Amino acid sequence: MAARELKVESPPKPELGDFAVGCFAIAKAQGKPPVQVAQAIAASFVPTPLLASATAAGPFVNFRADRAATFQWVIHAALTDTLVPRSLGEGQTICIDYSSPNISKHLAYHHIRSTVIGHSLALIFRGLGYRVVGINHLGDWGTTHGMLIAAWHMWGAGDDFSGLDITRLNELYVKFREAEKEQPQLSDSARQYFKKLEQGDPEVRALWQRFRDVSWAEFEAVYRRLGIEFDEVRGESAYEPDLARVMRELRAKGLVVESQGAQVVELEGEKTPILLEKNDGSTLYATRDVAAAEYRWATYGFARSLYVVDRGQALHFRQLFKLLAKAGFAWADRCQHVTFGLVRLGGKKTGTRTGNVVLLKDVLAEAEADVRTKIASVNSDLPVEVLDVVAPQVGTGAVIFANLVSQRDKDVDFEWDKVIALDGDSGPYVQYSHARCASIVRRAGERVTSVTGIDFARLTHDSEWAVAKRLLELPEAVVRAGPGDPEAELAKAAACEPHVLCHYLLALAGDFSRWYTAGNSDASLRVLCDDAETRRARLALVSAVQATLAKGLALLGIAAPDQM
Ligand code: ARG
Repeated sequence: MAARELKVESPPKPELGDFAVGCFAIAKAQGKPPVQVAQAIAASFVPTPLLASATAAGPFVNFRADRAATFQWVIHAALTDTLVPRSLGEGQTICIDYSSPNISKHLAYHHIRSTVIGHSLALIFRGLGYRVVGINHLGDWGTTHGMLIAAWHMWGAGDDFSGLDITRLNELYVKFREAEKEQPQLSDSARQYFKKLEQGDPEVRALWQRFRDVSWAEFEAVYRRLGIEFDEVRGESAYEPDLARVMRELRAKGLVVESQGAQVVELEGEKTPILLEKNDGSTLYATRDVAAAEYRWATYGFARSLYVVDRGQALHFRQLFKLLAKAGFAWADRCQHVTFGLVRLGGKKTGTRTGNVVLLKDVLAEAEADVRTKIASVNSDLPVEVLDVVAPQVGTGAVIFANLVSQRDKDVDFEWDKVIALDGDSGPYVQYSHARCASIVRRAGERVTSVTGIDFARLTHDSEWAVAKRLLELPEAVVRAGPGDPEAELAKAAACEPHVLCHYLLALAGDFSRWYTAGNSDASLRVLCDDAETRRARLALVSAVQATLAKGLALLGIAAPDQM
């Protein structure tokens, strides 16, 4: 039985002890009654630097901590940023395919979930010592691009390229789809243009490149705003040269069959086969994903390859992974579809099918503007130049946090007021708690950077202890948000849940606030109290909270301003 299966809890009453461990799993493994096991453990307990005593209570063992030693240990770890194990993932590479929008369309609001979930996973895995390859698998290939080129030749050729943007490209696309309904021959023309593109026709290719550049420039502006940089931007087009080989190899393995003129592979347990080549010989999204998976394996030798893509593509990824397994790639089971649900903004769906999409850049701008008004009203002393920096940090943070805080597989309905609220379960609330810690430290006029010489026995209140216990939980929260418990059977399914870290930060902010506000009614609890020794110990705890909130926010891709 693994030590990780032991769940550390809090005893029902603080006077019983500081930590409780149920003996059910050990008892099961040993084939003994849990009560007997608990007694045996308590009887043989030898005190450690942090644990002072153990007592059996029914099937539980209650441990009492040496609180002063624990405060010192955890505050030191928080201040030196050593709470989170940095070598957990040593020697392992994680590929994370995220954001991956289609070119010539705006980054709409619904793209945000893949973008922020993927980014925070990249930060979390990297923070745990994994080598992370963040990949933007740009959707820059396929028949859609033939349509755009056809549309350009019909209506856009007179345009000045300098004014070309995604809005114009999208207009052309929508107009083409409309016209196609009346004139079906347009579909042929689109197909021919895509054929030319595939064959490398220089003129068609140059046009496509322009569309791609225009799109990337707009995407990049949004990524910059979100603080995102990809390790690899490799669109679907990059796999065009590999597709013939991929098809040849799958055929050689005897996997490919013809179905209604198309080339497909039948898969066990699937009603429909996976489609690799249309009857006109053009390859598909899935074919390019086979090539991309092989490329990633060959290039990075990943321990896991994650695809952060909405739940709507569940069938695609299930079939893709089954195909890779059927093709004999032993690494197929290292691939995982990290799904997420839909986002709705104020009751509106945010898809791109129709013209009226909610643009991500507009949502970020609106969040920034609203947050600015809010902060200015609660903190009118904040200098404008500080507000200029903080408003985008908090506005962006609010949107990122709102997209991470609910379990990813759930659909989320955004209530705008809650997203940007400075209290409640919001990003700004966590940022605000961090700024509050920073302000206490500023007012104290001294910064605690080391635990040396501090008497932690001065921290005697339960509200202080609650904060310290919460600090101890950071590593578990980070691991659960990222790789999950490596020893758990369902590690894959239970992993990649940044919402766990969001909730951890909310809980820490809550514990801190309970301690801090207790000082309003009980002067003996004030951080900046008269007794110099107590004051230093409390300031150390405040600094540890500040460092931990900043660390957690950083792992989510959110800034932690010192004032707001
Ligand atoms: N471009 C696709 C879309 O916007 C997402 C791509 C996801 N990644 C992948 N390897 N299939 O729907």
